Amino acid sequence: MNPTESLHERIVATTARVGVLGLGYVGLTEAMELARAGFVVTGFDIDAARVSAVQGGHSYLVDISDDELAKVVGSGTLTATDDFTHLGEQDVLLICVPTPLGKSKAPDLSYIISAVDSIRPQLRRGQLVVLESTTYPGTTTEVVMPALESTGLRAGVDFHLCFSPERINPGDKIHPPSTIPRVVGGVSAACADLASRLFRRIAPDVVLVSTPQAAEMVKLLENTFRAVNIGLVNELALMCRSFGIDVWEVIDAAASKPFGFMPFYPGPGLGGHCIPIDPLYLSWKARVTGFDPRFIELAHQVNSSMPRVVVSVVTEALNHRSKSVKGSRVLVLGVSYKRDVNDARESPAIDILHELERREALVDYHDPYVARLEVNGRTMSSVPLDDIRLTGADCVVIATDHSCVDYKRVVDLAPLVVDTRNVTRAVAPYRDTIVKL
Ligand SMILES: NC(=O)c1ccc[n+]([C@@H]2O[C@H](COP(=O)([O-])OP(=O)(O)OC[C@H]3O[C@@H](n4cnc5c(N)ncnc54)[C@H](O)[C@@H]3O)[C@@H](O)[C@H]2O)c1
Repeated sequence: MNPTESLHERIVATTARVGVLGLGYVGLTEAMELARAGFVVTGFDIDAARVSAVQGGHSYLVDISDDELAKVVGSGTLTATDDFTHLGEQDVLLICVPTPLGKSKAPDLSYIISAVDSIRPQLRRGQLVVLESTTYPGTTTEVVMPALESTGLRAGVDFHLCFSPERINPGDKIHPPSTIPRVVGGVSAACADLASRLFRRIAPDVVLVSTPQAAEMVKLLENTFRAVNIGLVNELALMCRSFGIDVWEVIDAAASKPFGFMPFYPGPGLGGHCIPIDPLYLSWKARVTGFDPRFIELAHQVNSSMPRVVVSVVTEALNHRSKSVKGSRVLVLGVSYKRDVNDARESPAIDILHELERREALVDYHDPYVARLEVNGRTMSSVPLDDIRLTGADCVVIATDHSCVDYKRVVDLAPLVVDTRNVTRAVAPYRDTIVKL
């Protein structure tokens, strides 16, 4: 039996051993799904604290409870380790490490490279390696494949190599990972077939594309589509402000059209590990090949200006009440990058807090999910959302619309609310103390 056939069989029989490199939002979520499907999964992470949290059944993700994690770990189907010498024992290796931007906003592939470096000495015939981190088209074949082939083993012949973007949406109760189809592109049809057999165990469907580059591009199309449409609607929101039109009302009415329109909503700017970053991976690659990615750049300009727009709206609203930003008490409500998650990476609220501080406002923040936040080199702590803070604030800025906050109480007590998410509409549609984006 050749190694490909035996891996087929082990995937079908659920006896294949799966290693997941990177136990973050993506890796831990997928490790849980695979373990629940019956595979024996080992999670590898360089962060010893994360490894011991998983081993102790303590979840650091909002979508996974301690109980769920402890159950899977207790049954022995999921183990976490920072001992990478066990990589060679795995039949399948899924790479789910970060892909941030470097200082000059160029892709930082160092995490992928170090994960691949740890696999290299233990790579063996018949193993399947799948890169899942979001990255520019060409990473799998131009970066990962040559590094793995430096062992003398050939991709598509001796070992299997694919790209399959992870498409989870943390905090989304309507679309849990088990409802999201997977996209797979392999360096050969046999590679793609193996990966799709595995993913069919945890996803409702697998969409095969012809190459890893196409699969890498699928993810960037999805996230660039969001970034550009949010950029467009942010610009329209500013336009509507100048016309005195409520952009939210306009979007809702447009969304009644049953075809040809999809609603996107304005906000304080982009955040998280995906939408603000991924399109810049694509524009970097485009520029390297001499292509000028105009839409991406324009959307980036508009979206990244939004935190300053919010601060200008605060300034204007305070001014209207004969107050200056300098010396005003401003409470930022919600600092994670989106509703009901504990992830504050790239959150526009950080820029809003920073800009308000630069203008000498007295700032605080409240977020039930984010106890501490780094703002311009200093650590801020979430303050309680008590009556004294709400009545004593000169302005409350709703930057993130967590569903557990009582917004009726906020608008009843705060003398001025700048609502960047239109969350107050449900509790107080028209009130002169509420200013919307
Ligand atoms: N967060 C999301 O919603 C989401 C959704 C889809 C895709 N993605 C993409 O998935 C990738 C991972 O994102 P994330 O949000 O899970 O990141 P994360 O920062 O939450 O987790 C990454 C983990 O990888 C670990 N790590 C770093 N280098 C490692 C190495 N060499 N070996 C093993 N572990 C290593 C880190 O310690 C961390 O625990 C990124 O490319 C991201 O763009 C993220």
